[in-house]
Amino acid sequence: MTDPTVGIVVVAAGSGTRLAAGIPKAFATVGAQTILEHCLQGLSHAESAQVVIVAPAEFMDAARNLAGTATVVAGGDTRQASVAAGLAALVPAVDVVLVHDAARAFTPGSTIDRVVAAVRETGAGVIPSLPVSDTIKRVDGTVVLETVDRSDLVHVQTPQGFPRAALDRAYAEATTEYTDDAALFTAAGNTVSLVAGDALAFKITTPADLRRAEQELAEATHEGTSNVGVDFRTGVGMDVHAYDASEPLWLGGLYWPDEVGLSGHSDGDAMCHAICDALLSAAGLGDIGGRFGTSDPKFAGAHGDVFIGETVSLVEGAGFTVGNVSVQLIANGPRLGARRTELESHLSSLVGAPVSVAATTSDGLGFTGKGEGVAVIATALVRGR
Ligand code: CTP
Ligand code: MG
Repeated sequence: MTDPTVGIVVVAAGSGTRLAAGIPKAFATVGAQTILEHCLQGLSHAESAQVVIVAPAEFMDAARNLAGTATVVAGGDTRQASVAAGLAALVPAVDVVLVHDAARAFTPGSTIDRVVAAVRETGAGVIPSLPVSDTIKRVDGTVVLETVDRSDLVHVQTPQGFPRAALDRAYAEATTEYTDDAALFTAAGNTVSLVAGDALAFKITTPADLRRAEQELAEATHEGTSNVGVDFRTGVGMDVHAYDASEPLWLGGLYWPDEVGLSGHSDGDAMCHAICDALLSAAGLGDIGGRFGTSDPKFAGAHGDVFIGETVSLVEGAGFTVGNVSVQLIANGPRLGARRTELESHLSSLVGAPVSVAATTSDGLGFTGKGEGVAVIATALVRGR
């Protein structure tokens, strides 16, 4: 494996005086996990990167236990000293460095990707920012002097990204403490530009921020956006039936007057059958032939809704909930266009989850192209309970 060219220095060495959790802030918990763990999870989605965790000297072992493949180094007395320690641990191949506060535990992967992409594109320093929404006043003690025009002010967040060589030089030259890495970088004569930040990248600083973090986590878990530990399975199904001009057409559980029908022991509804196969396959329940028996008199002439109803019962009985189904008809006809919405809502009601339907032709090739019959492919997603 080649060495990563992106390095992410996660500074987690602060004591968290304002949070006052009785433990260094990065090791305070939100839900069942530490702030540092939440932060590292957000990074795991980003393109492969060397992650360096800068931890308090007395918490090196604790950090190593959470680190996975990340490098762990000891921090310094100031944030700047901690960043410098992290930079020194980057492998030679790294040419883009992100400096990130562990305290921004819920920073989305998309923000990280955006910063990396912008550093690569501009060759400059890049920081995520959000507009200032509060009215800002310049004051002298408790006396208001003036209202500041906020249109040219922004909030800044991390990760802040830089070309590595220029950042290393700026750190080597720095003789004073700066409030963030971008300030240090610009003081050395470099350019810094902005990309959009994200409200979720807020910094956990005070106990009120920690409560907000708890809420964000509870919401994410509740809404199912946190998929940790959820058992997702996908399935695929395919069915083919020949045209039979003497039969009425049933497709997707709907009757299609004036269209050439399909042959089959049941009503030949290849769309419903493909959906059943996809659902059974996702739940590990075999296939429609094995489950329903193509010669069972109970299913002679049966419509698709019977098969889908039985299939959904089997899938749910096995402990799965259907997430969605996606279907594609490959055929010269019928043309679905005018009835696609009706078809989707009918199938969705049968399955009890969103079903999307698309169609294509096979460019005159094969049995579908020559108009001998139809083929339908379906995929299904189910989740274990
Ligand atoms: N940080 C660090 N080393 C320091 C100081 C800060 O690595 N000597 C890190 C913190 O762990 C945090 C980030 O820099 O992830 C942002 O700093 P801040 O929010 O101020 O955290 P603390 O310094 O820990 O908090 P406080 O200022 O309330 O003590
Ligand atoms: Mg601090």
